[in-house]
Amino acid sequence: MNAPALLITGATGPLAEPVVRVLADRGHRLLLTGRNAEKLAELDQRYGSPGVIETFQVDAAQPDGAQQAAARAAERFDGLGGLVHLIGRFGFGPVMLTDIAVYDELIMSNFRSAVVATQAVLPHLTEGGRLVYFSTPLAVEPLAALSAYSAAKAALTTWVRSMAHEVKRRGIHANVVSMTIADTPKMRAERPGLDLDHTVDPALVARAVGFLTSPESDGLYGSVVPVLGKFSYSSVLAGGPPPGVGGPPPGAHTAAARPAAAAPAQAGAR
Ligand SMILES: NC(=O)c1ccc[n+]([C@@H]2O[C@H](COP(=O)([O-])OP(=O)(O)OC[C@H]3O[C@@H](n4cnc5c(N)ncnc54)[C@H](OP(=O)(O)O)[C@@H]3O)[C@@H](O)[C@H]2O)c1
Repeated sequence: MNAPALLITGATGPLAEPVVRVLADRGHRLLLTGRNAEKLAELDQRYGSPGVIETFQVDAAQPDGAQQAAARAAERFDGLGGLVHLIGRFGFGPVMLTDIAVYDELIMSNFRSAVVATQAVLPHLTEGGRLVYFSTPLAVEPLAALSAYSAAKAALTTWVRSMAHEVKRRGIHANVVSMTIADTPKMRAERPGLDLDHTVDPALVARAVGFLTSPESDGLYGSVVPVLGKFSYSSVLAGGPPPGVGGPPPGAHTAAARPAAAAPAQAGAR
């Protein structure tokens, strides 16, 4: 029997490919959506196979686009078994230097888009349906200059946990992956000071998605699953752990040299 067909929204970011590989290996049929035609064409060339893995250019953060995406997946695969909602956006800046439009965008992309996509997908789901979302430890332990992103992901996480109570009565599983910064070539290039000890391998995140879309996670409804690699908060005040405890000091493994004074916790969380 085929694994259930899944809609992957926001499939043009760096997490999408590892997720697609894991789910395709498990025999899921996949509809990959995004706004970026060029990136979708690349995905299509690499993974596309009619009736098995297809791409669809649409803005699934908007109600019309999400409805179109869900209907198309259900039509192409003769039913839809779940949603992997990758749409989201990062942003940082002190409150007084952050335009209100940035708040709107981060709430829209990280939280509202999940509501929109879920409303589109839920009518198609039956017993055993799967909904997977992506958050951050900042949603529960926010740091300075990350207020908009942290608040948007906190809204997402709380909303999923509430919604999960509603849909579990129909045997539908809604869960969240909470992850720190993914170690990707793009991230290394953008942030040469990135503390690699605190990042997470996207392939490991993808494996958690494989778990959350499979019967192995049948006991999980409304869970927030931390996939943080070896990330931990560390206190500058305490001077870090004693030598030999807890691995190398934060900052020992950076993508490039960086000033020793940089705050490790801010470097690792996202
Ligand atoms: N990568 C990390 O280190 C990390 C860490 C913690 C949590 N996460 C979360 O994991 C998920 C996937 O991560 P990622 O790095 O692959 O994400 P990403 O590259 O930042 O974006 C993922 C997708 O979201 C879409 N998107 C962003 N804003 C949108 C908007 N306003 N309307 C419609 N689509 C929009 C992007 O499309 P466009 O390219 O068209 O903008 C892309 O397809 C996200 O929710 C992210 O917040 C990622």
